Amino acid sequence: MSNESQNEAQDAELVTDDTVEVAPLAEQDAAPAADEAAEPVEPVELPQVERTPLIAGNWKMNLDHLQAIAFVQKLSWALKDARHDYADVEVAVFPPFTDLRSVQTLLAADKLSLKLGAQDVSPHESGAYTGDISAQFLAKLEAAYVIVGHSERRHGHGEDDATVGAKARAAAAAGVTPVICVGETAEDLAEHGAAAIPVAQLEAALAELPKGAEFVLAYEPVWAIGSGQAATPEQAEAVARALREAILRARGEEAAGSTRILYGGSVTSQNIAGFMRQPNVDGALVGGASLKSDEFSRIIQFKKHVTGA
Ligand code: PGA
Repeated sequence: MSNESQNEAQDAELVTDDTVEVAPLAEQDAAPAADEAAEPVEPVELPQVERTPLIAGNWKMNLDHLQAIAFVQKLSWALKDARHDYADVEVAVFPPFTDLRSVQTLLAADKLSLKLGAQDVSPHESGAYTGDISAQFLAKLEAAYVIVGHSERRHGHGEDDATVGAKARAAAAAGVTPVICVGETAEDLAEHGAAAIPVAQLEAALAELPKGAEFVLAYEPVWAIGSGQAATPEQAEAVARALREAILRARGEEAAGSTRILYGGSVTSQNIAGFMRQPNVDGALVGGASLKSDEFSRIIQFKKHVTGA
């Protein structure tokens, strides 16, 4: 297939996407809701700043290094065919540790603008920490980002807020931007409402992270991860707004304006547009749907299927 006809095929696909309306709230609203909606105290004014959207693919424990190379090649071809502008929507992939070197070599050799991230990092600089990977090692591999505090590590590996904060600090010290994940469980949601736990987790992490250190925040309701039951765009926006207000309190206006807040949890090409329309949602951390290059490429190209954009 020629490049042109590939483009046409892709455009045709996206036209189909244009016609996909985000399901109205009533249909989508299978997501659990807090017993009582939290009363907004006083609306806080937030700085109005343009932020570059970030679409991040968290591969979790999927794709070995050979599969990773094939995947990244396919994804970058699809994005090239679609004339994707990486400065307009930033794209990052987060492969397992064993894939990082292979993907880094490919990105460098082919001069690809995809960013590389890791899924975890040691809070320590070096030494007798069997199995750990230091932020310095990640920096040497030109990793731009590292995920810290993903719920699968908080819950599956017993990582507490102090550990998450220490990991974020170690990453920032090595020049790798931490993607700090926060989110409530279904029980937390019923008991405390949606924003209380994510805000507390953010505040705990920021207590460890030096002032001035850049970070990305990912709001990932635990009940939405891998469940096929995404939050509604309105739920995501309400928590993203509360998180930005917390950044404003802890770090001031500049950080509140520039920090990107991603939504994560069952994001697909069908629901991404609804999230990206929200003023405080600046991107997505995508798990399952980031493992199919065509689907991930459609998510990245959300601007083509945001109605009216
Ligand atoms: P999911 O995972 O998109 O498969 O729900 C998101 C995540 O865990 O980052």
